Amino acid sequence: MDIAIIGSGYVGLVTGACFADVRHSVICVDNDQRKIENLQNGVIPLYEPGLEEVVHRNVSANRLRFTTSTAEGVDESQIVFIAVPTPPQPDGSVDLTYIEKVAREISEVLKEYRVIVDKSTVPVKTGEKVADTIRRYAKGSVEFDVVSNPEFLREGCAVADLMNPDRIVIGSNSDRALSLMKKVYEPFMAPIMVTDMNSAELIKHAANSFLALKISYINAMSAICEASGADVERVADGIGADKRIGRSFLNAGLGYGGSCFPKDVAAFVAISDELGVPFTLLKEVQRINQNQMDRFIKKIKDTLWVLKDKRIAVWGLTFKPDTDDVRNSVAIDLVAQLLREGAIVRAYDPKGADKVAEYNLCEGVVLAKSALEAVEDAEALVLANEWNEFQSVDFVQVRKKMHTPLLFDGRNLFDPVTMKELGFIYHGIGRALAR
Ligand code: UGA
Repeated sequence: MDIAIIGSGYVGLVTGACFADVRHSVICVDNDQRKIENLQNGVIPLYEPGLEEVVHRNVSANRLRFTTSTAEGVDESQIVFIAVPTPPQPDGSVDLTYIEKVAREISEVLKEYRVIVDKSTVPVKTGEKVADTIRRYAKGSVEFDVVSNPEFLREGCAVADLMNPDRIVIGSNSDRALSLMKKVYEPFMAPIMVTDMNSAELIKHAANSFLALKISYINAMSAICEASGADVERVADGIGADKRIGRSFLNAGLGYGGSCFPKDVAAFVAISDELGVPFTLLKEVQRINQNQMDRFIKKIKDTLWVLKDKRIAVWGLTFKPDTDDVRNSVAIDLVAQLLREGAIVRAYDPKGADKVAEYNLCEGVVLAKSALEAVEDAEALVLANEWNEFQSVDFVQVRKKMHTPLLFDGRNLFDPVTMKELGFIYHGIGRALAR
């Protein structure tokens, strides 16, 4: 199939590269000239395991190319995916300016039948508005179909998620569009679920907010575990073994962050309000998420008392492991709060430091070059995300380097008993052992 992807950000680029990898011919479009020039020169604007290799392989095979021209993309493709950002507005609702602009741009260059696919995460009924917009601005009567096809990629394993999806959701009632969409996804050999457009759009917000709810559920449980002397990891294992519940996304921690869950839960709250059926359960999900960080900071303060001038090492800055994405990272919030209290923070992250420096996040933080450098003379070590690398650090060395062996494990990455044996005073999330 000949495919155009408008928007070469995280979703657009991964989707385009993986489509090319299953032998489709793909044009990735973006209005950021520098980004496109970089991509044309083989420079990938983000870190995602496996992505660089897939892009290079398919560029070399002439199946993947990059342009700033929407007209070129629309002219040379049967299907046009829209994968532009849908950022949050101050009230939590979604800013659809980019979607609307792309819809108008497509309408101006549309000459013959195309399937226009909404890949960005959008409020229910957006597809209908995209179709209205294209119809209104199109020059003359030209045939097209709008389809909703939400993505379910997780940063850090996006290539693997795209190549081996649990399901493909296609929202459309046009047989013509559906048969083309099925050809796009045939090579992935995954179950295809066909729905109407509104249901497909809702599936995305419902999936992300349900996963956020699972995380808040276990985080609220961690507070109960702390109050009752139970261990949240054992509780999560116990309930997660029930297939109806499942163990994934039951990892207690500092709360969910990133560019999706906080934004999508807020958007779903706003959408439900707008529809006149307020989804108040999700407001509680948000409250628990915020509370989780507050409880963790309190735990640090209860032990260290005054944070001013305390030397604190933080491991992890990205919003999760295996990415360099620091947007809405709870690790960054944590560092910012420690700095506000006057602590001297030395932080290390395997991939996130460059972006922290580039965007000047956490002004005043010292960025260490290694996990061991970060803990030099530290009065406490705080683990903010769970990169694999942290598990293989030599904790005998860590213990020797630190001034005081206090360990606050914000992701329950380490075994409390082992840490106690190594001489650490261990504080996890919802864990009674060794507390
Ligand atoms: C999420 C969804 O998992 C994807 O399915 C979806 O496509 C994507 O949003 C999106 O809408 O684009 P992502 O934000 O990349 O993916 O990362 P997740 O692995 O879902 O993690 C989100 C946050 O939840 C992270 O801060 C992570 O640390 C936290 N988390 C996750 C927990 O605190 N506990 C868990 O058990 C799992």
